[in-house]
Amino acid sequence: MKLCIIGTGYVGFTTGVCLAYLGNNVVCVDKDMKRVGMLRKGIVPIHEKGLGELMGQGVSAGRLQFTTDLCYGVANSEIIFITVGTPSLPDGDVDMTAVYEAAEGIAECMDDYRIIVNKSTVPVGTQKMVTGIISERLKKDVGFDVLSNPEFLREGTAVFDTMHPDRVVIGADNPEAAGVLARLYKPMGGKVLFTDPESAEMIKYASNAFLATKISFINEIANLCEKVGADVTKVALGMGLDSRISPHFLKAGAGYGGSCFPKDIRALIKTAEKNGYRLKIVESAVEVNRDQRLRPVEKLKMSLGSLNGKTVGILGLSFKPDTDDIREAPSLDIIREIIGQGGRVKACDPVAVSNARKMLPEVKYCDDAYSTAEGADALILVTEWQQYKDLDLKKLKSLMKRPVFIDGRNVYDPDAMTGLGFEYHCIGRGNSGRVRKK
Ligand SMILES: NC(=O)c1ccc[n+]([C@@H]2O[C@H](COP(=O)([O-])OP(=O)(O)OC[C@H]3O[C@@H](n4cnc5c(N)ncnc54)[C@H](O)[C@@H]3O)[C@@H](O)[C@H]2O)c1
Repeated sequence: MKLCIIGTGYVGFTTGVCLAYLGNNVVCVDKDMKRVGMLRKGIVPIHEKGLGELMGQGVSAGRLQFTTDLCYGVANSEIIFITVGTPSLPDGDVDMTAVYEAAEGIAECMDDYRIIVNKSTVPVGTQKMVTGIISERLKKDVGFDVLSNPEFLREGTAVFDTMHPDRVVIGADNPEAAGVLARLYKPMGGKVLFTDPESAEMIKYASNAFLATKISFINEIANLCEKVGADVTKVALGMGLDSRISPHFLKAGAGYGGSCFPKDIRALIKTAEKNGYRLKIVESAVEVNRDQRLRPVEKLKMSLGSLNGKTVGILGLSFKPDTDDIREAPSLDIIREIIGQGGRVKACDPVAVSNARKMLPEVKYCDDAYSTAEGADALILVTEWQQYKDLDLKKLKSLMKRPVFIDGRNVYDPDAMTGLGFEYHCIGRGNSGRVRKK
């Protein structure tokens, strides 16, 4: 099929590349000229496993193009995907500017029937709003359908998730248009759920709110485990063996972050507020997460006392491993808190340093964990990159001024760490959740 994708971020670029790989002709449109210039030169603007190779194949097969010209994309497509960003406004509501701009642009270019598919995460009612905008702005009297098709890919495994979705949710008023979209996704497999647009829009927010709540839940249990001497990793294992619970999203740590959970949950709370309702569980999950993100700093102070003049090394900046995305990453709160309390911060990350540098210029960025450890009063592991799981811990300790190690992701074995002579703190693992001195 002929497809146009508007927005070449994590979602749009991955979707475009994967659909081209499956034999479709895809025009990716972005208003960011610099980004389009990079893409045309074959430079992948984001860190995502497998994306570069698939992009190269699509471009050489002549099935994948990049442009800033929206009308070119609209003219050369049967289905148009909206995959632009929907960030938070200061009051927590969703900034819909990019979605509405895309809808207006489509209307101005469209001269024949098109299916318009919204993949951006948007509040309930957006399908109707976009339908209204396009109807008002159309230059020619042509038909169209707007579908809601929320995206569930995870950064770090975006290509795999796109090619092997758990489910494909299609919210549509017109079953024929929904059928066309379902046929496009057929080669990827995954259960297809046809629904009304409002339910499709809500499914995305409810899913993210549920997962975030699950994380906050296990983090609260972890904090209690520390008080009663239980080990949250064992508790989570035991809970996760129950098929009603599942082991996923039961890892205690320094809280959730990223470009989706925080903003989507704020948006859902706002939707409830606007409709005269309070989502008390979701509000509490946010509050728990706010505190949890700073747990590593509390543990740091238990060990170092005042942070004034102390040097703290941060291992990992991205909000999770295998991505360069630092949007709302816990590392940002942790670093700002340490600096706010008079500490100095050194940091490393396999791929996210250039993004972090723009937001936190005051940090000293290092090439790897060892140079980060050099002369540090303490280290905090914030992102569980594989590289940091495979460290030579003896060497790491020998480089530090003081062997204080805060494991914000429960990566290491507490006994092994104390055996090596670290003052080791982790999250919710019985007594090792507190300071242990050797
Ligand atoms: N990142 C994820 O893991 C993920 C997962 C599921 C859903 N989502 C949702 O998908 C949407 C996109 O997220 P993302 O992370 O890919 O965003 P992103 O910020 O990485 O990319 C958005 C892109 O859209 C472009 N853009 C903005 N306005 C435009 C316009 N009018 N015309 C053309 N291009 C325009 C921007 O230049 C940018 O390149 C969001 O609603 C997000 O919540 C994201």
